[in-house]
Amino acid sequence: MTSTELRQKFLKFFEKKGHKIAPSSSLLPTDPSVLFTTAGMQQFSLYLSGEKDVLKDFGTRYLTTCQKCFRGDDIEEIGDDTHNTFFEMLGNWSIGQDEKGYYFKEEAIKYALEFLVDELGLNENRFYITIFKGTLHHPAETGGAGQDKDIPRDNESEKIWLKQGIPKERIKEFGEEDNLWGPVGETGICGPCSEIHYDRGEEFGCNRKDCGPNCLHCQRFMEIWNLVFMEYDKAQNGKYKSLPQRNVDTGMGFERICSILQKKSSVCETDLFLPIIQEIEKKCSKKYEREKRIFRILADHLRGASFLISEGIVPSNLGREYILRRILRRSIRYAKVLNLTENWYVEPIKKISEIYKGIYPEVKSKETDILAVIQKEEEKFEKTLEKGIKETSSIVAKGDISGRQAFDLYQSYGFPIEMTKEIAKEQGQQVDEKGFKQALKKHQEISRAGKEKKFGGGGQFSPKLHTATHLLHSALRKVLGNKVKQMGSDITLERLRFDFSFDRKLTSKEIKKVEDLVNQKIKENLEVKKQEMPLKQAIKSGALSFFKEKYPEKVSVYSIGDISKEICAGPHIKRTSELGQFKIIKQESSSAGIRRIKAILLY
Ligand code: ALA
Repeated sequence: MTSTELRQKFLKFFEKKGHKIAPSSSLLPTDPSVLFTTAGMQQFSLYLSGEKDVLKDFGTRYLTTCQKCFRGDDIEEIGDDTHNTFFEMLGNWSIGQDEKGYYFKEEAIKYALEFLVDELGLNENRFYITIFKGTLHHPAETGGAGQDKDIPRDNESEKIWLKQGIPKERIKEFGEEDNLWGPVGETGICGPCSEIHYDRGEEFGCNRKDCGPNCLHCQRFMEIWNLVFMEYDKAQNGKYKSLPQRNVDTGMGFERICSILQKKSSVCETDLFLPIIQEIEKKCSKKYEREKRIFRILADHLRGASFLISEGIVPSNLGREYILRRILRRSIRYAKVLNLTENWYVEPIKKISEIYKGIYPEVKSKETDILAVIQKEEEKFEKTLEKGIKETSSIVAKGDISGRQAFDLYQSYGFPIEMTKEIAKEQGQQVDEKGFKQALKKHQEISRAGKEKKFGGGGQFSPKLHTATHLLHSALRKVLGNKVKQMGSDITLERLRFDFSFDRKLTSKEIKKVEDLVNQKIKENLEVKKQEMPLKQAIKSGALSFFKEKYPEKVSVYSIGDISKEICAGPHIKRTSELGQFKIIKQESSSAGIRRIKAILLY
């Protein structure tokens, strides 16, 4: 089945079930607090929350779409079998409670099985189901903030799956990280979800005893469809309250389901993607089979960039524009690894518009713009690239490159290890690849541990911004006095937000002082130290704490030089010099007596 046929089949299936087919919305959501459209439900948010009347605007409570999505969070994952930055999501909705014409868990589950098994012919024995095990409220899990114990285990879905013939051993329960979906931003609609994972077979597995859906070690089980039972609203204080209505919101990964139907081991080998890789291969002396990850990254990033640029985004250092810059520069570096020469991206970009012109004509009509933006970014990037290459060469001139050095090049210039190896090889030197991998793994583990798996603005976590938050906090206390107390904090991939008690607007002089102090501490390259100790001792030692009553008995204390000491669950980076340049981008009032600062790190 071609991808075009599958898209149609899905929409028609739900149309037959009484759903109205709605067009994909833009990749740029109207909600300014969210960078991209990352899920099909975003365009329906106000209907799901009950703020707008779906019957009035759509004439029905049932909707279905194929939605363009972009997830900037997954950049490090790209090249594996299941992730893309740009992807499409198939979905169906049942919005709001109504005597007639409303469905919830039972029908949502039945429809999903009917589509997958009866329409697509997938083998039901390969399905593994996850359900929500209920909220857990250990203070260490919530960073001390605490939440109401008010979302129960989803016994209802479990019963329905069992009734539909899924055996108990293939139904697994998970917590908030995996099976409580949303909100997309920091607050808003969310709900327990139940996911269908597809067992791709032992050959994709890690052979561990505990391998199963959401395995951290392999991609044997691929999540294909997420059924969200949206009935909660998450408030600023982290508490959940019931929505005035209940909804179904589902999302199926289009590329993933294509890969299963087309019997491909990766989303990158479907008819949506392989043709792009083949265009790159034509330009190149290296073969996809030997350099799979790099080819996949290039094809993914070119595709993602095409879609972003087609919606008018241009690269810069902030927000979504920064994400575009990041994927473009990353592709330019990888293109060097493949020894691709000038204009290497032209044919692949044309292929992308050809693949998508039938459904998203904007990639075709904006093709010239897309090419021009990439060319311009490449020119701009040359200088940094040269600097990195020079530095690499100077290390190589002295001998082999250590794992740490290779990692530093990766951190500072984004140099992929393959590129560092190429440069070293020219001079007959070696790179400690094992050491590099260890350093990288550690770094990734840290960022993964801090990053909520489910997507949402609130969950896009950066340990760098976390460390920067501690520095900001101590700088504020130094500049404004000890009446400054942390009242809240939130970190996304792009920025930190810090709420603190203070009763007036900061002057621009004070803002500058705070920035300078933080930047000075970054320059001093202070070590971030972690110590575990009993809570009492931590408080006695002067470590700052804000949710005293909710901390466990044993806590971690993070200190940065002698400027900052806080009780905190982490994770943090190792040394402050990793932070780049700190910049406050906004100050505002959060509520009476509480100021809010937003800040970013520039590299
Ligand atoms: N909104 C749900 C998701 O994106 C369906 O996974």
